[in-house]
Amino acid sequence: MARVALVTGGSRGIGAAISVALKEAGYQVAANYAGNDQAANEFSKQTGIPVFKFSVAEFDACKEGVAKVEAELGPIDVLVNNAGITRDTSFSKMTPEQWREVMATNLDSLFFMSKCVFDGMKKRGFGRIITIGSVNGQKGQFGQTNYAAAKAGAAGFTKSLAQEGARSNITVNVVAPGYIGTDMVKAVPQEVLNAKVLPQIPVGRLGEPEEIGRCVVFLASDDAGFITGSTLTANGGQYMT
Ligand code: CAA
Repeated sequence: MARVALVTGGSRGIGAAISVALKEAGYQVAANYAGNDQAANEFSKQTGIPVFKFSVAEFDACKEGVAKVEAELGPIDVLVNNAGITRDTSFSKMTPEQWREVMATNLDSLFFMSKCVFDGMKKRGFGRIITIGSVNGQKGQFGQTNYAAAKAGAAGFTKSLAQEGARSNITVNVVAPGYIGTDMVKAVPQEVLNAKVLPQIPVGRLGEPEEIGRCVVFLASDDAGFITGSTLTANGGQYMT
């Protein structure tokens, strides 16, 4: 039986590439999305990957969403916490709402989603929880006190849950991408990208979403069973850990 993988924010950007990479690697994949029905339906039509709409920022919605996925595809073996948002602005201008929105979607969601699948993984004696972090959670970024705090939080969450899952063959890891050519990065003003970001990337280009998809497929595989609590960085050399 093919293993079941759920990718949050899995119908666009890096998430879409992860969903497709997992499908190509033989998984039964479910892609979660929150808002953009049109993009999600197009993605589903193109790839044959079913989509499930719910907000990862609300615990009850996660519980319902995961139950629906499991009813249709079976128990979740691989959870990819990819859904994330930015509300970039300098700290002086940042509102409590901009802080809270980013914390809810990017950090609370890790607790909510993992909570829904962890005990089942434990019972079955296998699981993979992979969270998409960020180079900016590792090095900090002007305009991202909220986002960097959430992404750094993901690493602490991961190292702790990894210890709790280890005896049950559940690995918990982070993939920390650098700047990848997606809508999120395209939202950064072009002059900031050219003057401040690209010169910091030794390989001299943005990453491709598929390059992150391959990292996730590796960490999800049996071959990666001895890797847990770890962060795999894929950032073109922008920040070397
Ligand atoms: N270092 C130092 N100064 C900087 C700076 C930096 N990295 N970036 C901007 N500034 C300066 C500007 O030059 C400007 O200076 P002047 O006033 O002297 O002209 C000043 O800061 C702007 O300050 P403001 O308070 O007006 O800032 P703002 O609230 O308008 O915010 C910004 C500007 C939104 C932070 C904008 O600079 C920006 O978008 N920066 C890029 C942030 C970024 O890289 N986000 C990553 C998005 S992609 C992602 O998140 C995916 C991932 O995981 C990698």
